[in-house]
Amino acid sequence: MGWDVIPAPVLERLRCPTCGKDVTALPDGAGVTCGSGHRFDRRHGVLDCSTAGRPQGSTEATFASFGYEWNTFDGVRDEDQSFADVYFRDVDLEGLRGKVGLDAGCGKGRYTRFLAQYLKAEVALDGSSAAEAAARNLADVPGATVVRSDLRDAPFAPESFDFISSLGVLHHLDDPFAGFQRLLALLAPEGQVLLYLYSRPETMGLRSLSLTAATALRRVTTRLSHPVLKALSTPIAGVLWWGFVVPGRFGERHGIPSLAGLPMDAYRSMPFRSLVLDTFDRLSAPVEYRYTWSDLQPWFDRTGLVVDAARDETGWFVLAHRP
Ligand SMILES: C[S@@+](CC[C@H](N)C(=O)[O-])C[C@H]1O[C@@H](n2cnc3c(N)ncnc32)[C@H](O)[C@@H]1O
Ligand SMILES: [Zn+2]
Repeated sequence: MGWDVIPAPVLERLRCPTCGKDVTALPDGAGVTCGSGHRFDRRHGVLDCSTAGRPQGSTEATFASFGYEWNTFDGVRDEDQSFADVYFRDVDLEGLRGKVGLDAGCGKGRYTRFLAQYLKAEVALDGSSAAEAAARNLADVPGATVVRSDLRDAPFAPESFDFISSLGVLHHLDDPFAGFQRLLALLAPEGQVLLYLYSRPETMGLRSLSLTAATALRRVTTRLSHPVLKALSTPIAGVLWWGFVVPGRFGERHGIPSLAGLPMDAYRSMPFRSLVLDTFDRLSAPVEYRYTWSDLQPWFDRTGLVVDAARDETGWFVLAHRP
């Protein structure tokens, strides 16, 4: 299918970003247009709906950071499959067959690619130029459509999606709960939503000290140019690797609890490059919020969602459904 066609289940859910009317496809997958003549082009596999509004608050800086990140660290790697095993552990993947999904804040599209094996059709949506990297990584994936748009203005009819994933995204918004509510407006009845959100420990310990240090470092690093921060990410990741990951792995193998209990255990089975990427990610994004479960539970209570699973593995993986 490639970039020539917008799959029917996506086209019928798309709405004009300017006026909200239905859209029709332009020939050869060149874009979409509505009855009022608003036209949105599709270039190199990206349907660009970002031209409809102006970024507000921190959004422009956030998009600049992630656009750089995902066009620099742009390949889908073997370790992304291992990360996917963690991210989607609670999801009934076979149950997604025949359903339509939205990956809101898809970055380079690594998890859209994973989910596309199951879903009938899927939208990979990102507000930044990361959408271009996603289009490259999804060019051979039938049923995936890449849309560039702020998720708060996602150009889709209400209740369009059976499954919405938003992984590592909402905590970068100025008002994460408002973003969550916007996503929920797109969720079909009985639809499921999977979130990944940064967590924070409730008690003092090594992890909370590390997070305090990272927050202090971020005051400087979020002001650096992206190429400079990229260059610095390798030595910083090196310090973390030799300070936490390698001793932790050693402690785990040799049954030394004081070492096995070190933070950053998720990287023990991952290559160094994944820590370099995540170091850049952590130190570059202008806004980040962190949550305990008592911060997050009201999100679900207030919106009437039923939580199916919630676990904190250096971040909250929350799966919930709309009754
Ligand atoms: C940490 S990355 C995660 C990417 C992907 N979900 C993954 O886990 O590989 C966050 C992504 O969310 C996107 N993003 C942040 N705020 C957004 C918004 N308001 N609307 C759409 N995308 C947004 C960024 O451009 C970035 O690509
Ligand atoms: Zn229109």
